[in-house]
Order: sequence, then structure tokens, then C-alpha cells
Amino acid sequence: MLVIAVVNLKGGSTKTTTAGHLAAAFHEAGMKVLGVDADGENESLQSWQEAADLPWPVITLAVSNVHKQLPGIVGDKYDVVVIDTPPMKAQRGTVYSVLRIATHVVIPMAPTPVEYDRLAAVRELIDEVAGDREDGQPPIHAVLLTRVKPRAASTTVYRQLVTNDGVTVLKAQVGALERFAQSWGDPMTGVLDTSYGEAAMELLDLEAAVKA
Ligand SMILES: Nc1ncnc2c1ncn2[C@@H]1O[C@H](COP(=O)(O)OP(=O)(O)OP(=O)(O)O)[C@@H](O)[C@H]1O
Ligand SMILES: [Mg+2]
Repeated sequence: MLVIAVVNLKGGSTKTTTAGHLAAAFHEAGMKVLGVDADGENESLQSWQEAADLPWPVITLAVSNVHKQLPGIVGDKYDVVVIDTPPMKAQRGTVYSVLRIATHVVIPMAPTPVEYDRLAAVRELIDEVAGDREDGQPPIHAVLLTRVKPRAASTTVYRQLVTNDGVTVLKAQVGALERFAQSWGDPMTGVLDTSYGEAAMELLDLEAAVKA
């Protein structure tokens, strides 16, 4: 079972949008998906589920011991669990707990100096959590560039900077698009054909690469 955590330091970094679309893409690909809302605030994954009647379940687990509670809840019923998290800065304990059991961490990041600057704190937490994981290793993690502007040099610049830091950047990148900006509460269809669909498939490949 894959456990994909969408994590960033601050609010408004497209975590919920990313978690929702990745879950929808896995569902469209025929996988059994569970969404986990570890945030529960405002326009959360849980309230998105309720507003749009999404065809996959979402549970709220906004607690600091997700790593203890989740295994008993999911059992072996799902192929992939996608966890939307609160901003790490505000809810470090919850995010740390999620990172203890995540197989993959997706860090959505706009190609801007402010968002790049926040990456260091997320990487520190990912390294720190290794000692509290069963495998003693940090979870597989990758940056997903989001809100990229067409033909902007910033995309290439920040892709290179993050890569030079030794962090995987998914090839898929999510444009600054109305489709995604307006998507909360939307049932989301045809996601596999979008950049989020590409990102979801890349994540499956990362898993295969690690297992090989
Ligand atoms: N690809 C995109 N292009 C343009 N706007 C986007 C895109 N994805 C998300 N947004 C917008 O960015 C804002 C933040 O998105 P979202 O709620 O997913 O972030 P978040 O990290 O979950 O925030 P919070 O920590 O407050 O829960 C929203 O207004 C959303 O509509
Ligand atoms: Mg959110």
C-alpha cells in the first residue's frame, strides 16, 4: 500500500488541491483510494469530499498520532492512501506523525524565492523523522512544481536549484490554471489526462524504482 503525504511548511501552498487531484487520478487509474484529512480546517479534503460527493472516501484524522491510528483504520482495504496535511509550521506534531508512516512525500512548490526558501525546513523534518520510522530511512520525497506560468524562466531556474540540492523534482508540473484554482468542491473528472495524472503515475514509478 502506498501512503502519499502532501506536505509544506505554510498554508496556501496548494496542498489540498494537490492531495485531491492525486487521489482522483489514482481512483481514475482503477486503484482503491482513501483520502485522509489530517488538517480538517476550512476548505479541507473532508469538506471537499462532502461538497462534491467524490467517488472515494475521505476520513478526518487531524491528530498527532496518525502513525498509530491509521494502520488499524485502513487495514488492507486500499491500494493508496493520500494524506492532506496542515501547514507544518502550525502543526508540526501532526505532520511529523504522518511522515513516520508515509511511503512518499509530495512537496508542492511554486517556482518562487519564498516557496523555495521554505523547502529547507520540510527537508529537515523529512531527515529528522528517519530515526522514528520502521525502515530507519527518510520517506521517498519529491517536489511537485505547481502554479507554474507558461514560458516563465522561473520554472527552469527553480527546477535546477532544487535538483542541485539533491531533491527529486517530478517531471510533471502543474500550471497556474483556473481549472485547479477553482477546483475545491468540484467533482474532478478527467484528472488522469492532466499534469496531476502524470504526477500520480510518476509517483508509482518512483515506488517501482525503489523496490527494484
Ligand atoms: N494550479 C493552480 N493554479 C492556480 N491557483 C491554484 C492552483 N492550485 C491551487 N490554487 C489556489 O491556491 C490556493 C491555495 O490552495 P490550497 O487550498 O490547495 O492550499 P493549501 O496548502 O491546502 O492551503 P491551507 O494550508 O490553507 O489548507 C487556493 O486559492 C487555490 O484555489
Ligand atoms: Mg489545505
